[in-house]
Amino acid sequence: MENIQSWYNIVPDLAKYLEPLPPPKGGEEVLKVLVPECLKQEMSREPEIEIPKELQQIYAMIGRPRPLVEAKKLQAALKTPARLFYKTEFYSPTGSHKLNTALAQAFYAKQAGIKRLVTETGAGQWGTAVAYAAKIFGLEAAVYWVRAAHDRKPERRKFMEELGAVVYASPSTNTGCGQTLLHDNPNHQGSLGIAISEGLEDAISRKDTAYLPSSESTVYVLGSVLNHVLLHQTIIGLEARQQFEELRLWPDIVISCLGGGSNFGGIALPFMKEVLAGGKKIRFIASQTQAAPSLIKGKYRYDYADHAGLTPKLKMYTLGHKAKLAPSLAEGLRYASAAPIISLLRNHGLIEAVSPDESFVFCCAKLFYDTEGPLPPPVVLPQVANIGEYNPRRHGFPAVESIYSIATAIEEALECKATGEKKIILFNISGHGFLDEGVYQEAFTKYRIGY
Ligand SMILES: Cc1ncc(COP(=O)(O)O)c(C=O)c1O
Repeated sequence: MENIQSWYNIVPDLAKYLEPLPPPKGGEEVLKVLVPECLKQEMSREPEIEIPKELQQIYAMIGRPRPLVEAKKLQAALKTPARLFYKTEFYSPTGSHKLNTALAQAFYAKQAGIKRLVTETGAGQWGTAVAYAAKIFGLEAAVYWVRAAHDRKPERRKFMEELGAVVYASPSTNTGCGQTLLHDNPNHQGSLGIAISEGLEDAISRKDTAYLPSSESTVYVLGSVLNHVLLHQTIIGLEARQQFEELRLWPDIVISCLGGGSNFGGIALPFMKEVLAGGKKIRFIASQTQAAPSLIKGKYRYDYADHAGLTPKLKMYTLGHKAKLAPSLAEGLRYASAAPIISLLRNHGLIEAVSPDESFVFCCAKLFYDTEGPLPPPVVLPQVANIGEYNPRRHGFPAVESIYSIATAIEEALECKATGEKKIILFNISGHGFLDEGVYQEAFTKYRIGY
């Protein structure tokens, strides 16, 4: 297949076929600490944005285009007439799709003379992607990592540090927001919304901003939710579309897990283009943790994207920016709101949402592992992550977030078995679980799944 040379920007198509994307409100301070080129892309009305040549080469280096695989053994085990295809975002040196936008944001930051990237992370995948991208472009990186996941994944912390990043468990004593929360509860487990607030406070409190490049200049890079992040991730769906065209097939259903919406948007939006234009019919299904079913139980309204209310207000499905979310083993899906682009499409009835039971999800992880898996090791192992021998039993599962995609694809395949329909189902495996071992052990013990 040909390399993808431009990302797809759905924003003008939303305006053409549905309604204009509601603009953000306020939060000017935050806009000053984003990468200037990304801010331009955030507001862009161009239908396509060219991927810089240097970045195209780096995408090739990290394994793009990524294979589309038919899950034949899983189909056989399920005895379904449906055909299941998955996109392999786990073929990533850091373990997930997050690198697609981390590299783009770091590339533009470097071009603008910026020296330091600050960010949040939930599952740890985004933090690792930023650490890796910073290393590639010779930048510094600081990561505020939700404590609940941080404490379960010491090897992933080590991975980020070996790439040169400074990592803070969030809430941390490094920011006013963190200090207040720790004062009220010294064992606070954190949340993505809190980690975003801490990262933003860090970036805003620096004297120099993105517009004043100097040895100190810092920007905030976000791993989901914003338009430019979904834009960079469209490379997933653009590749998948080409791969389906080569197979002379077209999906009936497109599925992915959804936290803030970046990998879901990445795989879905290039297919949504055809649906909006009225040419094709596809069901799009977002799979969410029951701890944060923003698209199911949230309200479509303006809200902040972080706990402290530092960001602009965005129109999105939200459970409330200060909502106390139940714990979830899929920390990367435990976020109160869904991206404005995804929310608008959901509000027009173009996206369905489900939140499968956690025990069912882990049973599906085991079934996938026993049929299609174990996944091959990411290329950096074990030299960088320094986790010793690659043991497929310990490290061969998909990322915990990604198994929500698998579980929902299995549910749909079983539905086809009941109805006899030969649907074509595409799902995204957004990441590798090679550093999620602690979470799997906890889940398999909790749900008495032998492995
Ligand atoms: C592997 C993986 N998949 C999915 C997600 C959810 O994020 P998003 O909805 O932005 O794709 C995360 C978030 O950390 C993740 O690490």
